[in-house]
Amino acid sequence: MTSTSHVYYGTLVHSLSLKELQVIDQGVLIVKDGLITHVEQNVKDVDALLKSIQLDAYELHRLEKHQFLLPGLVDTHAHAPQYVFSGSGMDLQLLEWLNKHVFPAESAFKDVAHADAAYTKVVSRFLRNGTTTCSWFATIHLESCQRLVDVINKLGQRAYVGKVNMDQNSPDYYIETTEDSLQNTKRFIEYTQQHSNGGLVTPVVTPRFAIACSSTLMKGLAGLAHDYKVPIQTHLCENPDEITFTKSLFPDSASYTAIYDDHNLLGPSSYMAHCVHMTDSEIDLLAERQTGIAHCANSNFSLHSGLCDVRRFMAKGVKVGLGTDVAGGFAPSIIDAIRSSFFASKTIKALERDQHGNKDYDYLQPAELIYLATLGGAHVLGLQDTIGSFVPGKAFDALWIDPTAAHGTVDLMGQESQEQVIEKFLFTGSDRNILHVFVNGRRVSGSA
Ligand code: GUN
Ligand code: FE
Repeated sequence: MTSTSHVYYGTLVHSLSLKELQVIDQGVLIVKDGLITHVEQNVKDVDALLKSIQLDAYELHRLEKHQFLLPGLVDTHAHAPQYVFSGSGMDLQLLEWLNKHVFPAESAFKDVAHADAAYTKVVSRFLRNGTTTCSWFATIHLESCQRLVDVINKLGQRAYVGKVNMDQNSPDYYIETTEDSLQNTKRFIEYTQQHSNGGLVTPVVTPRFAIACSSTLMKGLAGLAHDYKVPIQTHLCENPDEITFTKSLFPDSASYTAIYDDHNLLGPSSYMAHCVHMTDSEIDLLAERQTGIAHCANSNFSLHSGLCDVRRFMAKGVKVGLGTDVAGGFAPSIIDAIRSSFFASKTIKALERDQHGNKDYDYLQPAELIYLATLGGAHVLGLQDTIGSFVPGKAFDALWIDPTAAHGTVDLMGQESQEQVIEKFLFTGSDRNILHVFVNGRRVSGSA
Protein backbone atom coordinates (compact mmCIF):
# COMPACT_ATOMS: atom_id res chain seq x y z
CA MET A 1 0.00 0.00 0.00
CA THR A 2 1.30 3.46 -0.84
CA SER A 3 1.28 6.01 1.95
CA THR A 4 -0.13 9.50 1.65
CA SER A 5 2.30 12.40 1.34
CA HIS A 6 1.62 15.59 3.25
CA VAL A 7 2.35 18.80 1.42
CA TYR A 8 2.78 22.04 3.40
CA TYR A 9 2.58 25.29 1.43
CA GLY A 10 3.55 28.59 3.05
CA THR A 11 6.38 30.26 4.97
CA LEU A 12 9.15 28.00 6.30
CA VAL A 13 11.63 29.29 8.87
CA HIS A 14 14.76 27.38 9.86
CA SER A 15 18.46 27.77 10.65
CA LEU A 16 21.20 27.05 8.16
CA SER A 17 23.89 27.84 10.74
CA LEU A 18 24.33 29.83 13.96
CA LYS A 19 24.10 33.18 12.17
CA GLU A 20 21.95 32.31 9.17
CA LEU A 21 18.19 32.07 9.59
CA GLN A 22 16.49 31.22 6.33
CA VAL A 23 12.95 32.48 5.77
CA ILE A 24 11.45 30.66 2.79
CA ASP A 25 8.47 32.43 1.23
CA GLN A 26 5.94 30.43 -0.75
CA GLY A 27 7.69 27.30 0.41
CA VAL A 28 6.64 23.77 -0.33
CA LEU A 29 7.64 21.02 2.09
CA ILE A 30 6.62 17.45 1.38
CA VAL A 31 6.56 14.72 4.03
CA LYS A 32 6.24 11.00 3.44
CA ASP A 33 6.36 8.31 6.11
CA GLY A 34 7.56 10.91 8.62
CA LEU A 35 10.49 12.10 6.53
CA ILE A 36 10.93 15.31 4.55
CA THR A 37 11.20 14.33 0.89
CA HIS A 38 11.15 17.71 -0.83
CA VAL A 39 11.70 21.41 -0.02
CA GLU A 40 11.22 24.17 -2.54
CA GLN A 41 11.05 27.97 -2.35
CA ASN A 42 9.20 30.71 -4.25
CA VAL A 43 6.55 28.38 -5.56
CA LYS A 44 3.89 30.55 -7.21
CA ASP A 45 1.66 27.71 -8.35
CA VAL A 46 1.61 24.77 -5.93
CA ASP A 47 -0.83 22.75 -8.04
CA ALA A 48 1.45 22.94 -11.08
CA LEU A 49 4.41 21.87 -8.96
CA LEU A 50 2.49 18.93 -7.53
CA LYS A 51 1.46 17.82 -10.99
CA SER A 52 5.08 17.84 -12.11
CA ILE A 53 6.17 15.77 -9.10
CA GLN A 54 3.43 13.16 -9.58
CA LEU A 55 2.83 12.04 -6.01
CA ASP A 56 0.68 8.91 -5.69
CA ALA A 57 -1.57 10.34 -3.03
CA TYR A 58 -1.28 13.52 -1.05
CA GLU A 59 -2.99 15.99 1.26
CA LEU A 60 -2.28 19.69 0.77
CA HIS A 61 -2.07 21.93 3.87
CA ARG A 62 -1.97 25.66 3.16
CA LEU A 63 -0.51 28.02 5.76
CA GLU A 64 -2.23 31.39 6.05
CA LYS A 65 -0.63 34.83 6.03
CA HIS A 66 1.76 35.32 8.98
CA GLN A 67 1.72 31.59 9.81
CA PHE A 68 4.94 29.65 9.48
CA LEU A 69 6.55 26.27 10.09
CA LEU A 70 9.48 26.11 12.51
CA PRO A 71 11.58 23.02 13.33
CA GLY A 72 10.51 21.38 16.60
CA LEU A 73 12.24 22.71 19.72
CA VAL A 74 15.01 20.69 21.39
CA ASP A 75 15.41 20.65 25.19
CA THR A 76 18.88 19.28 25.93
CA HIS A 77 18.35 19.09 29.71
CA ALA A 78 15.25 18.56 31.89
CA HIS A 79 14.33 16.55 35.01
CA ALA A 80 10.95 14.86 34.46
CA PRO A 81 10.21 14.05 38.15
CA GLN A 82 10.97 17.60 39.28
CA TYR A 83 8.01 18.96 37.31
CA VAL A 84 5.80 18.18 40.34
CA PHE A 85 7.30 21.15 42.22
CA SER A 86 8.23 23.43 39.32
CA GLY A 87 7.48 27.06 40.00
CA SER A 88 8.08 26.61 43.73
CA GLY A 89 11.03 26.13 46.06
CA MET A 90 13.50 28.58 44.59
CA ASP A 91 14.64 29.76 48.01
CA LEU A 92 18.04 28.05 48.09
CA GLN A 93 21.21 27.47 46.08
CA LEU A 94 22.02 24.15 44.45
CA LEU A 95 23.30 21.84 47.21
CA GLU A 96 20.76 22.96 49.85
CA TRP A 97 17.99 22.98 47.21
CA LEU A 98 18.79 19.36 46.25
CA ASN A 99 18.50 18.26 49.88
CA LYS A 100 15.38 20.23 50.74
CA HIS A 101 13.31 19.98 47.55
CA VAL A 102 14.75 17.62 44.94
CA PHE A 103 15.66 14.43 46.79
CA PRO A 104 12.36 14.16 48.72
CA ALA A 105 10.36 14.77 45.51
CA GLU A 106 12.40 12.31 43.44
CA SER A 107 12.32 9.58 46.10
CA ALA A 108 8.50 9.55 45.78
CA PHE A 109 8.96 8.08 42.29
CA LYS A 110 9.56 4.68 43.87
CA ASP A 111 5.76 4.60 43.58
CA VAL A 112 5.03 3.65 39.97
CA ALA A 113 1.48 5.01 39.97
CA HIS A 114 2.80 8.41 41.07
CA ALA A 115 5.41 8.22 38.31
CA ASP A 116 2.77 7.41 35.68
CA ALA A 117 0.61 10.37 36.67
CA ALA A 118 3.45 12.88 36.95
CA TYR A 119 5.24 11.76 33.79
CA THR A 120 2.04 12.00 31.76
CA LYS A 121 1.60 15.61 32.90
CA VAL A 122 5.17 16.70 32.23
CA VAL A 123 5.61 15.08 28.81
CA SER A 124 2.20 16.41 27.69
CA ARG A 125 3.13 19.91 28.82
CA PHE A 126 6.50 19.84 27.07
CA LEU A 127 4.90 18.69 23.81
CA ARG A 128 2.23 21.35 24.09
CA ASN A 129 5.02 23.94 24.39
CA GLY A 130 6.65 22.65 21.22
CA THR A 131 9.45 20.48 22.65
CA THR A 132 9.56 17.70 20.09
CA THR A 133 12.87 16.33 21.39
CA CYS A 134 13.88 16.24 25.05
CA SER A 135 16.80 14.84 26.99
CA TRP A 136 15.34 13.68 30.30
CA PHE A 137 16.78 12.81 33.69
CA ALA A 138 14.39 10.47 35.57
CA THR A 139 15.18 9.04 39.04
CA ILE A 140 17.21 6.11 40.40
CA HIS A 141 14.19 3.72 40.28
CA LEU A 142 14.31 1.21 37.42
CA GLU A 143 10.60 0.54 37.19
CA SER A 144 9.43 4.14 37.15
CA CYS A 145 12.18 4.99 34.62
CA GLN A 146 10.66 2.33 32.39
CA ARG A 147 7.25 3.94 32.90
CA LEU A 148 8.70 7.24 31.68
CA VAL A 149 9.78 5.49 28.48
CA ASP A 150 6.26 4.04 28.13
CA VAL A 151 4.62 7.46 28.63
CA ILE A 152 6.94 9.08 26.08
CA ASN A 153 6.17 6.33 23.58
CA LYS A 154 2.44 6.75 24.13
CA LEU A 155 2.57 10.53 23.70
CA GLY A 156 4.95 10.36 20.72
CA GLN A 157 7.88 12.55 21.78
CA ARG A 158 11.42 12.04 20.49
CA ALA A 159 13.57 11.62 23.59
CA TYR A 160 16.74 10.63 25.35
CA VAL A 161 15.91 9.10 28.74
CA GLY A 162 18.31 8.56 31.62
CA LYS A 163 18.03 6.45 34.73
CA VAL A 164 19.84 8.61 37.31
CA ASN A 165 22.85 7.09 39.14
CA MET A 166 23.73 7.99 42.76
CA ASP A 167 25.83 5.79 45.07
CA GLN A 168 27.41 8.31 47.47
CA ASN A 169 26.82 11.63 49.26
CA SER A 170 23.08 11.18 48.97
CA PRO A 171 20.39 10.78 51.66
CA ASP A 172 19.73 7.30 53.14
CA TYR A 173 16.24 7.31 51.64
CA TYR A 174 17.47 8.08 48.10
CA ILE A 175 20.65 6.20 47.26
CA GLU A 176 21.61 2.91 45.58
CA THR A 177 24.56 0.54 45.89
CA THR A 178 27.19 0.66 43.16
CA GLU A 179 26.22 -2.84 41.96
CA ASP A 180 22.48 -2.08 41.83
CA SER A 181 23.15 1.19 40.06
CA LEU A 182 25.17 -0.52 37.30
CA GLN A 183 22.88 -3.55 37.04
CA ASN A 184 19.69 -1.47 36.82
CA THR A 185 21.26 0.90 34.30
CA LYS A 186 22.07 -2.07 32.11
CA ARG A 187 18.50 -3.34 32.40
CA PHE A 188 17.15 0.14 31.67
CA ILE A 189 19.30 0.50 28.54
CA GLU A 190 18.12 -2.88 27.27
CA TYR A 191 14.47 -2.09 28.04
CA THR A 192 14.63 1.27 26.28
CA GLN A 193 16.41 -0.13 23.24
CA GLN A 194 13.62 -2.73 23.00
CA HIS A 195 10.91 -0.04 23.38
CA SER A 196 12.40 2.69 21.21
CA ASN A 197 9.22 3.50 19.23
CA GLY A 198 11.01 3.01 15.94
CA GLY A 199 14.17 4.72 17.12
CA LEU A 200 12.51 7.84 18.57
CA VAL A 201 13.54 7.01 22.14
CA THR A 202 17.13 6.40 23.18
CA PRO A 203 18.62 5.56 26.58
CA VAL A 204 21.29 7.91 27.93
CA VAL A 205 23.76 7.07 30.70
CA THR A 206 23.11 9.60 33.47
CA PRO A 207 25.47 9.92 36.45
CA ARG A 208 23.76 12.70 38.48
CA PHE A 209 27.03 14.58 39.10
CA ALA A 210 30.46 13.68 40.44
CA ILE A 211 29.46 14.42 44.06
CA ALA A 212 26.86 11.62 43.98
CA CYS A 213 28.95 9.04 42.08
CA SER A 214 31.93 6.98 43.21
CA SER A 215 34.92 6.43 40.95
CA THR A 216 33.91 2.78 40.54
CA LEU A 217 30.41 3.78 39.47
CA MET A 218 31.60 6.42 36.97
CA LYS A 219 34.06 4.00 35.38
CA GLY A 220 31.39 1.30 35.18
CA LEU A 221 28.93 3.72 33.58
CA ALA A 222 31.48 4.82 30.99
CA GLY A 223 31.94 1.12 30.16
CA LEU A 224 28.19 0.62 29.71
CA ALA A 225 27.91 3.68 27.48
CA HIS A 226 30.74 2.30 25.37
CA ASP A 227 29.39 -1.26 25.22
CA TYR A 228 25.82 -0.25 24.32
CA LYS A 229 26.84 2.78 22.19
CA VAL A 230 24.65 5.20 24.11
CA PRO A 231 25.25 8.87 24.97
CA ILE A 232 26.18 10.28 28.39
CA GLN A 233 24.70 13.30 30.19
CA THR A 234 25.52 14.89 33.53
CA HIS A 235 25.94 18.23 35.35
CA LEU A 236 29.16 20.26 35.34
CA CYS A 237 30.40 23.45 37.07
CA GLU A 238 26.97 24.76 38.00
CA ASN A 239 27.56 26.43 41.38
CA PRO A 240 30.61 27.65 43.37
CA ASP A 241 29.96 25.50 46.50
CA GLU A 242 29.30 22.47 44.31
CA ILE A 243 32.63 22.97 42.53
CA THR A 244 34.60 23.33 45.80
CA PHE A 245 33.04 20.19 47.28
CA THR A 246 33.51 18.20 44.06
CA LYS A 247 37.21 19.05 43.82
CA SER A 248 37.71 18.03 47.48
CA LEU A 249 36.28 14.58 46.66
CA PHE A 250 38.56 13.97 43.64
CA PRO A 251 41.89 15.63 44.55
CA ASP A 252 43.82 13.66 41.91
CA SER A 253 41.99 15.32 39.00
CA ALA A 254 43.17 18.67 37.66
CA SER A 255 39.68 20.22 37.48
CA TYR A 256 35.99 19.39 37.79
CA THR A 257 35.89 18.79 34.01
CA ALA A 258 39.01 16.61 34.27
CA ILE A 259 37.23 14.38 36.81
CA TYR A 260 34.78 13.31 34.12
CA ASP A 261 37.59 13.01 31.60
CA ASP A 262 39.60 10.84 34.00
CA HIS A 263 36.58 8.51 34.23
CA ASN A 264 36.12 8.29 30.42
CA LEU A 265 32.85 10.20 30.53
CA LEU A 266 33.72 12.91 27.97
CA GLY A 267 33.42 12.31 24.23
CA PRO A 268 31.47 13.29 21.12
CA SER A 269 28.28 11.65 22.47
CA SER A 270 28.47 13.32 25.90
CA TYR A 271 26.85 16.59 26.96
CA MET A 272 27.15 18.58 30.14
CA ALA A 273 24.46 20.77 31.73
CA HIS A 274 25.16 24.31 32.98
CA CYS A 275 28.96 24.86 32.71
CA VAL A 276 28.52 28.27 34.36
CA HIS A 277 31.92 28.52 36.05
CA MET A 278 34.56 27.10 33.71
CA THR A 279 38.21 28.01 33.23
CA ASP A 280 39.50 28.44 29.68
CA SER A 281 41.41 25.18 29.91
CA GLU A 282 38.24 23.33 30.96
CA ILE A 283 36.45 24.71 27.89
CA ASP A 284 39.45 23.62 25.79
CA LEU A 285 39.07 20.12 27.20
CA LEU A 286 35.38 19.99 26.19
CA ALA A 287 36.33 21.24 22.72
CA GLU A 288 39.04 18.61 22.41
CA ARG A 289 36.63 15.83 23.43
CA GLN A 290 33.86 17.26 21.17
CA THR A 291 31.54 17.32 24.18
CA GLY A 292 28.53 19.67 24.02
CA ILE A 293 26.79 21.74 26.66
CA ALA A 294 23.19 22.44 27.69
CA HIS A 295 22.73 26.13 28.49
CA CYS A 296 20.08 26.42 31.22
CA ALA A 297 19.64 30.14 31.77
CA ASN A 298 16.33 30.12 33.65
CA SER A 299 17.77 27.66 36.18
CA ASN A 300 21.02 29.60 36.46
CA PHE A 301 18.97 32.67 37.45
CA SER A 302 16.43 30.84 39.64
CA LEU A 303 19.00 28.89 41.68
CA HIS A 304 21.33 31.88 41.71
CA SER A 305 24.05 29.77 40.09
CA GLY A 306 25.49 32.53 37.91
CA LEU A 307 25.73 33.74 34.33
CA CYS A 308 26.94 31.36 31.66
CA ASP A 309 28.62 33.12 28.76
CA VAL A 310 27.95 30.73 25.89
CA ARG A 311 30.02 32.91 23.55
CA ARG A 312 33.14 31.55 25.28
CA PHE A 313 32.12 28.02 24.31
CA MET A 314 30.99 28.82 20.78
CA ALA A 315 34.24 30.71 20.14
CA LYS A 316 36.13 27.45 20.79
CA GLY A 317 33.76 25.33 18.69
CA VAL A 318 31.94 23.66 21.60
CA LYS A 319 28.41 22.56 20.65
CA VAL A 320 25.71 24.50 22.56
CA GLY A 321 22.00 23.77 23.00
CA LEU A 322 19.31 25.11 25.32
CA GLY A 323 17.88 23.38 28.39
CA THR A 324 14.98 24.20 30.68
CA ASP A 325 16.49 22.22 33.60
CA VAL A 326 12.98 21.88 34.98
CA ALA A 327 12.62 22.34 37.93
CA GLY A 328 15.81 24.28 38.67
CA GLY A 329 14.32 26.34 35.87
CA PHE A 330 10.64 26.98 36.50
CA ALA A 331 9.43 27.03 32.88
CA PRO A 332 8.66 23.86 30.88
CA SER A 333 9.31 25.65 27.62
CA ILE A 334 12.18 26.22 25.21
CA ILE A 335 10.51 29.46 24.12
CA ASP A 336 11.13 30.56 27.72
CA ALA A 337 14.71 29.24 27.47
CA ILE A 338 15.18 31.51 24.46
CA ARG A 339 13.99 34.50 26.52
CA SER A 340 16.09 33.58 29.56
CA SER A 341 19.16 33.10 27.36
CA PHE A 342 18.48 36.50 25.80
CA PHE A 343 18.36 38.13 29.26
CA ALA A 344 21.51 36.30 30.40
CA SER A 345 23.28 37.52 27.30
CA LYS A 346 22.03 41.11 27.69
CA THR A 347 23.13 41.04 31.35
CA ILE A 348 26.63 39.95 30.33
CA LYS A 349 26.65 42.79 27.82
CA ALA A 350 25.79 45.30 30.56
CA LEU A 351 28.47 43.89 32.88
CA GLU A 352 31.06 44.00 30.10
CA ARG A 353 30.21 47.63 29.47
CA ASP A 354 30.09 48.70 33.13
CA GLN A 355 32.90 46.62 34.58
CA HIS A 356 35.32 46.26 31.67
CA GLY A 357 34.51 49.26 29.47
CA ASN A 358 33.83 46.87 26.62
CA LYS A 359 31.02 48.22 24.48
CA ASP A 360 31.31 45.56 21.77
CA TYR A 361 30.03 42.43 23.51
CA ASP A 362 27.85 40.67 21.02
CA TYR A 363 24.64 39.57 22.78
CA LEU A 364 22.64 36.66 21.34
CA GLN A 365 20.49 37.70 18.38
CA PRO A 366 17.07 36.17 17.62
CA ALA A 367 18.49 34.15 14.71
CA GLU A 368 21.15 32.67 17.00
CA LEU A 369 18.57 31.89 19.68
CA ILE A 370 16.45 29.99 17.16
CA TYR A 371 19.55 28.05 16.09
CA LEU A 372 20.41 27.13 19.70
CA ALA A 373 16.79 26.02 20.29
CA THR A 374 16.69 23.77 17.21
CA LEU A 375 19.75 22.80 15.14
CA GLY A 376 22.20 23.65 17.95
CA GLY A 377 20.39 21.31 20.34
CA ALA A 378 20.27 18.66 17.62
CA HIS A 379 24.07 18.87 17.30
CA VAL A 380 24.51 18.52 21.08
CA LEU A 381 22.44 15.31 20.99
CA GLY A 382 24.16 13.99 17.86
CA LEU A 383 20.86 14.27 15.95
CA GLN A 384 21.95 16.90 13.43
CA ASP A 385 21.35 14.52 10.51
CA THR A 386 17.88 13.63 11.80
CA ILE A 387 16.22 16.83 13.06
CA GLY A 388 16.72 20.57 13.59
CA SER A 389 16.09 21.98 10.11
CA PHE A 390 14.01 21.42 7.00
CA VAL A 391 16.26 19.35 4.80
CA PRO A 392 15.20 16.36 2.65
CA GLY A 393 16.05 13.14 4.43
CA LYS A 394 15.48 14.58 7.92
CA ALA A 395 12.43 13.71 10.01
CA PHE A 396 9.50 16.12 10.00
CA ASP A 397 9.64 17.38 13.59
CA ALA A 398 7.95 20.76 13.32
CA LEU A 399 5.68 23.42 14.78
CA TRP A 400 2.91 25.14 12.85
CA ILE A 401 2.95 28.62 14.32
CA ASP A 402 0.00 31.00 14.06
CA PRO A 403 0.94 34.44 15.41
CA THR A 404 -2.64 35.59 14.73
CA ALA A 405 -4.37 32.68 16.54
CA ALA A 406 -7.68 33.88 17.99
CA HIS A 407 -6.72 33.01 21.58
CA GLY A 408 -3.03 33.58 21.04
CA THR A 409 -0.85 36.10 22.83
CA VAL A 410 0.71 37.98 19.91
CA ASP A 411 -0.84 41.22 18.62
CA LEU A 412 -0.05 42.32 15.07
CA MET A 413 -1.12 45.46 13.22
CA GLY A 414 -0.74 43.68 9.89
CA GLN A 415 2.13 45.73 8.43
CA GLU A 416 4.94 43.79 10.13
CA SER A 417 7.69 42.17 8.10
CA GLN A 418 7.98 38.39 8.35
CA GLU A 419 11.19 38.86 10.42
CA GLN A 420 9.29 41.04 12.88
CA VAL A 421 6.46 38.52 13.11
CA ILE A 422 8.94 35.76 13.95
CA GLU A 423 10.61 37.91 16.61
CA LYS A 424 7.25 38.88 18.09
CA PHE A 425 6.32 35.21 18.36
CA LEU A 426 9.60 34.45 20.14
CA PHE A 427 9.09 37.17 22.73
CA THR A 428 5.30 37.45 23.11
CA GLY A 429 3.97 34.13 21.81
CA SER A 430 2.81 31.15 23.83
CA ASP A 431 1.59 27.58 23.41
CA ARG A 432 -1.70 29.06 22.18
CA ASN A 433 0.12 30.24 19.06
CA ILE A 434 1.35 26.69 18.31
CA LEU A 435 -1.47 25.13 16.29
CA HIS A 436 0.17 21.77 15.60
CA VAL A 437 3.19 19.91 16.95
CA PHE A 438 4.60 17.18 14.70
CA VAL A 439 7.11 14.48 15.59
CA ASN A 440 8.28 12.23 12.77
CA GLY A 441 5.41 13.50 10.64
CA ARG A 442 2.74 12.68 13.20
CA ARG A 443 0.65 15.34 14.98
CA VAL A 444 1.26 14.82 18.70
CA SER A 445 0.00 18.10 20.21
CA GLY A 446 -1.11 21.66 19.49
CA SER A 447 -3.70 24.27 20.37
CA ALA A 448 -5.88 23.88 17.25
N1 GUN B 1 23.15 18.83 40.02
C1 GUN B 1 22.92 17.59 40.49
N2 GUN B 1 21.62 17.28 40.46
C2 GUN B 1 20.99 18.37 39.97
C3 GUN B 1 19.61 18.67 39.69
O1 GUN B 1 18.71 17.87 39.89
N3 GUN B 1 19.38 19.89 39.17
C4 GUN B 1 20.36 20.80 38.92
N4 GUN B 1 20.03 21.97 38.41
N5 GUN B 1 21.64 20.55 39.18
C5 GUN B 1 21.95 19.35 39.70
FE1 FE C 1 19.76 19.68 35.90
